[in-house]
Amino acid sequence: MYIEKVNLENFRNYESQEINFINGINLFVGNNAQGKTNIIESIYVSAFGKSYRASKDMELINFNKDFFRINLNYKKNNINSKIEIFVDKNNRKSIKENGVKISKIADHVGSLLVIIFSPDSLDIVKGSPSKRRNFIDVICSQLSKSYLIAYQEYMKCLKLKNAMLKKDIVDKDYIYILHEKMSEDIYKIVRSRNDIINKLLKKSKIIQSNLTNNEEDIDLIYQTDFLNKSKDEIKMYLDEHLYIDILRKSSVKGIQRDDLLININGEDVSKYGSQGQKRTALLTLKLANFEVFIDEKDDIPILLLDDIMSELDSKRISFLLKYIENYQSIITTTDASFVKDVKNIVISSVKCGKVE
Ligand SMILES: Nc1ncnc2c1ncn2[C@@H]1O[C@H](COP(=O)(O)OP(=O)(O)OP(=O)(O)O)[C@@H](O)[C@H]1O
Ligand SMILES: [Mg+2]
Repeated sequence: MYIEKVNLENFRNYESQEINFINGINLFVGNNAQGKTNIIESIYVSAFGKSYRASKDMELINFNKDFFRINLNYKKNNINSKIEIFVDKNNRKSIKENGVKISKIADHVGSLLVIIFSPDSLDIVKGSPSKRRNFIDVICSQLSKSYLIAYQEYMKCLKLKNAMLKKDIVDKDYIYILHEKMSEDIYKIVRSRNDIINKLLKKSKIIQSNLTNNEEDIDLIYQTDFLNKSKDEIKMYLDEHLYIDILRKSSVKGIQRDDLLININGEDVSKYGSQGQKRTALLTLKLANFEVFIDEKDDIPILLLDDIMSELDSKRISFLLKYIENYQSIITTTDASFVKDVKNIVISSVKCGKVE
């Protein structure tokens, strides 16, 4: 799959901009604060219906305007498709796929398959467990609509449960009923997370050893209380821990506590890895994500690489450029000096919300 064209209207610092893409490397070069990341963000918004770096949709509207609109044209298996995202100052929002309005976001996520890699992605390796869960959840959601629905329903129940736990008198029967539904969602979510982690692991082993001349072995270990438990056992487990939930006034058990341990040569990379090892592990995970999508979706995802070249050494950069030369990527940078002998590339400059 590849993006042919994006039209931005009043999106961030773009008032009216058409951007054309090749099915290869699209490099956007410019100084700081010119609008490079905004291009990446607009594509992300088209894929997920929301931004990864704005807490409210309205932040995406140009300061002087009342709405923004993104029109994105892409080709999937040689068929032309279109996504339109619209948000106005009154928080009216619409997402359309080929002219048809989408009412549930789960019906849209996964249509335009993207993988984002930015300096913030390093949090996957060194940040809190929530960043690693999010990494896995985004992959699972792009691969399966039913995953995203189970996840959303679980989070709704969790919110209800936590609200009840904050009350002076807790209605236990109400929580037992919530546990009924939550255990079904947990069962689904844990199986999917485990399956994807195993698939990522297989790919990661090969990529990591290629990246490090066989010096580093990577391991991914899924940490959860629920693996190999039946739905009934999960329900029982939640019920058994309710007295601690009540004491602490919050839910102590659940998939919101899962984590993914990333080991390099047997050691936890978040604790013992060097900066370079963390970056390498992250590059491995992102490329493993890329390969898992190709296997599972039978389609090639689009790589969004925001300002990461400055974070990688020359060896990792050549590896990455070689790796991506036959796919579509959208890369931003302040310094294009890493581009030497690269095929299938178009370089555009970005200045004050204009692309040339
Ligand atoms: N809603 C908005 N309306 C108008 N301008 C905005 C809005 N939101 C952000 N901007 C502006 O967009 C500009 C460019 O942002 P962007 O993050 O794309 O820069 P960049 O080119 O990626 O820079 P850097 O190299 O520092 O990462 C910023 O100067 C910011 O003030
Ligand atoms: Mg930027």
